[in-house]
Amino acid sequence: MEKAKEPTAAAKSPAGLEGIVAATSAIGDVDGINGVLIYQGYNVHDLAEHSTFEETVYLLWHGRLPTKSELDELHRSLAENSTPPREVLEMIRHMPKDAEPMDLMRTAVSALSLYDRECCDTSREGALRTATRLTAQLPVIVASIERIRKGQEPVEPKKEQSIATNFLYMLRGEMPDEREARIFDVALILHADHELNASTFTARVVAATLADMYGAVTAAIAALAGPLHGGANTEVMRMLLEVGSVENVEPFIKDALVQKKKIMGFGHRVYKTEDPRATWLRRFSEEMGKAKNDTKFFEMSRKVEDVIMREKILYPNVDFYSASTYYMMGIPLDLFTPIFAVSRISGWTGHILEQYGNNRLIRPRAEYTGRRDVAYVPIDQR
Ligand code: ACO
Repeated sequence: MEKAKEPTAAAKSPAGLEGIVAATSAIGDVDGINGVLIYQGYNVHDLAEHSTFEETVYLLWHGRLPTKSELDELHRSLAENSTPPREVLEMIRHMPKDAEPMDLMRTAVSALSLYDRECCDTSREGALRTATRLTAQLPVIVASIERIRKGQEPVEPKKEQSIATNFLYMLRGEMPDEREARIFDVALILHADHELNASTFTARVVAATLADMYGAVTAAIAALAGPLHGGANTEVMRMLLEVGSVENVEPFIKDALVQKKKIMGFGHRVYKTEDPRATWLRRFSEEMGKAKNDTKFFEMSRKVEDVIMREKILYPNVDFYSASTYYMMGIPLDLFTPIFAVSRISGWTGHILEQYGNNRLIRPRAEYTGRRDVAYVPIDQR
């Protein structure tokens, strides 16, 4: 019997496509060396300081900031399109109460396409209408998932309120205070887009087959859920709760590093310095802790940051301080990643619009490292 050849030498392609430029895009850019993030040319610090999530959504979709009347029109159409189909909410009622909200959300988004007669329209106008419906309905779906699993009725959003204020209102059934709503609004701005991250790349690959936007977003949600991507924020809070005290941080982290465990919320494929989003969220974590008279998780987070910097020279990413910020807002841990999606839907849909606008199928090659010319051996001779 002929012996099969050994596999060829290890692949030369960078693992995880590190450093590979896989698309052109005018939507956003990450300068990982200098820690600069821009959306359509605007520095994210400026947007966090001065903008709103809705204005950022417009920017990502249209490539420029809206005029007053264009922003009013976007608010109006988001409000008009914020009611998910009754059947989708009904479906959520019949899903297991202990299911992961990310899984429920992914399934609900997939189901939305069944009730949208325009779902397959990939023209700019049609796709913009779908993007509006998705952006408006996702927060309602996430808040409804939370209410339904607690045995409560979903709360309808208030037409005149922002997505940030409405989300907290729908979750709790009472209006948030203004400052908390603004912090949440800025958190949505900070998570809105991040160039060709794993979930956005997923969305573009699906859209490039000219599949509908719901399919592309469903796939993006699946990619976001993983702990190496958006799922890290929930894991950060689980870790902080397990650590329990500032004193326990150092032994806990050192032990985890000895065991070669990844510390969630640290490290990044692109940033080699501070993630500019973490700068804002660190402030918010402290501010929310002070507002609730409980700075323990902020202090623990600072300590984790110190230990990891000393031991591994790793910086916190967007997921690290968003965890304690949301926790101090009283948001359940397993909603942290769905909230990421409530924001990132703007970037995903922006990229899908861009992909549809200048489409070519995304179909790269794999560098083959397997065997060749292997003779087929009948099963009784193997
Ligand atoms: N904790 C401990 N060590 C880490 C961490 C971490 N969080 N991140 C990277 N490292 C170490 C690795 O162990 C590796 O060390 P080694 O060379 O000694 O083996 C080195 O840094 C490179 O790490 P990779 O995993 O190869 O880096 P990669 O670019 O592939 O991964 C990633 C980036 C996935 C973000 C990684 O840093 C990680 O797993 N972080 C934790 C999960 C997380 O926070 N994800 C959210 C990212 S932001 C976002 O998606 C929204």
